[in-house]
Amino acid sequence: MEHEHVRDVDPAVADALEGEVDRQRESLQMIASENHVSEAVLDAQGSALTNKYAEGYPGSRYYGGCEFADEVEQHAIDRAQELFGADHINVQPHSGTQANQAVYFAMLEPGDKILSLDLTHGGHLSHGHPANFVGQLYDVEQYEVDAETGYLDYEGLAEHAEEFEPDIIVSGYSAYPREIEWGRIQAAADSVDALHLADIAHITGLVAAGVHDSPVGIADFVTGSTHKTIRAGRGGIVMCDEEYADDIDAAVFPGGQGGPLMHNIAGKAVGFKEALAPEFEDYAEQTVANAKALGERLVENGFSLVSGGTDNHLVLVDLRESHPDTSGGNAEEALEDAGIVLNGNTVPGETRSAFDPSGIRVGTPALTTRGFDEDDCRTVADLITRVIDTPDDEAVLAEVREDVESLCDANPLYE
Ligand SMILES: Cc1ncc(COP(=O)(O)O)c(C=O)c1O
Repeated sequence: MEHEHVRDVDPAVADALEGEVDRQRESLQMIASENHVSEAVLDAQGSALTNKYAEGYPGSRYYGGCEFADEVEQHAIDRAQELFGADHINVQPHSGTQANQAVYFAMLEPGDKILSLDLTHGGHLSHGHPANFVGQLYDVEQYEVDAETGYLDYEGLAEHAEEFEPDIIVSGYSAYPREIEWGRIQAAADSVDALHLADIAHITGLVAAGVHDSPVGIADFVTGSTHKTIRAGRGGIVMCDEEYADDIDAAVFPGGQGGPLMHNIAGKAVGFKEALAPEFEDYAEQTVANAKALGERLVENGFSLVSGGTDNHLVLVDLRESHPDTSGGNAEEALEDAGIVLNGNTVPGETRSAFDPSGIRVGTPALTTRGFDEDDCRTVADLITRVIDTPDDEAVLAEVREDVESLCDANPLYE
């Protein structure tokens, strides 16, 4: 077979792929769930393993020719084990959502009860929102953060658990800027004999690096996405005690998925190896330091942050007090025009809607990967402020865009 590049076969897609690399290079990716994987992870995910069917698990497949698939998957498992220390690890979920679904499918019957954080308070669709099948198949109630402080209301959660008697409590969040006290949630689960699923999708890298406490060894199940703070490429992961291993494996395949995406599992193996290197701890620490610096400067500039600050890789800005006429959606649009890409986000006590929320979620994982430090992040906070102060001023947006380009040039990506 002659080696043809995408450009030889499909110039339209080649243009779009190049456009995407340029977009990532020339603008600031501040969506808190995104990151830039290494070229090694890109290579692995773009490898010939995409051709391979490997239904089953290493050493026990339903297809022949799996010796290299086995090697790759075993490397991914072993490295994840070194990073997280869980008894049993399944690296096949195609995404964080499917990792969560595998846990529900393994442990619950339709109609069983899930207690999870409200979406507008920082939860995730896969934790039981009615728009996800999980919300339709199970009986879901939701806990909240404290309206005053923005911190998780652990006592309220425990009381809610006493009343509702859930079969499983879900912790771990999409837009919660504070460290999570896993032990307090476990205590609430224990008091009503519920299982506990800790979804560390966002903070997988912070946990792997030891920058945040791990729920492994506390919660019954720990799930995550592998493309966020841990930078191991697209996918999901489930970790559990040995007693649940067979049920979880069966729920991932054949319960919820077909053939594993072996090329993505290769990406996970390579990304996990990178995360085992000492530099990854520096990266995770810098990601948090950057978010703190960014948040502090935003507060100095007059913004209000949910919970007043951050312990992790993101800040959640509530625009209602400082910019009552600007929604998160307006801010997102103006910032994108200026080269700063993030998302409008609901805030606790939301008074607008999920489609036109009152806040923005601002993350530092991708900027930190490309070399940004606290000073750079303070500069970015000032640029964000300029845009949100005058979202309709084209001249300001153009000036900010120039400053963004200078920051990008000083911190090159995929050279
Ligand atoms: C807490 C949480 N869980 C699960 C997911 C789903 O991850 P994925 O997009 O990999 O399905 C996300 C995505 O952002 C998340 O924030």
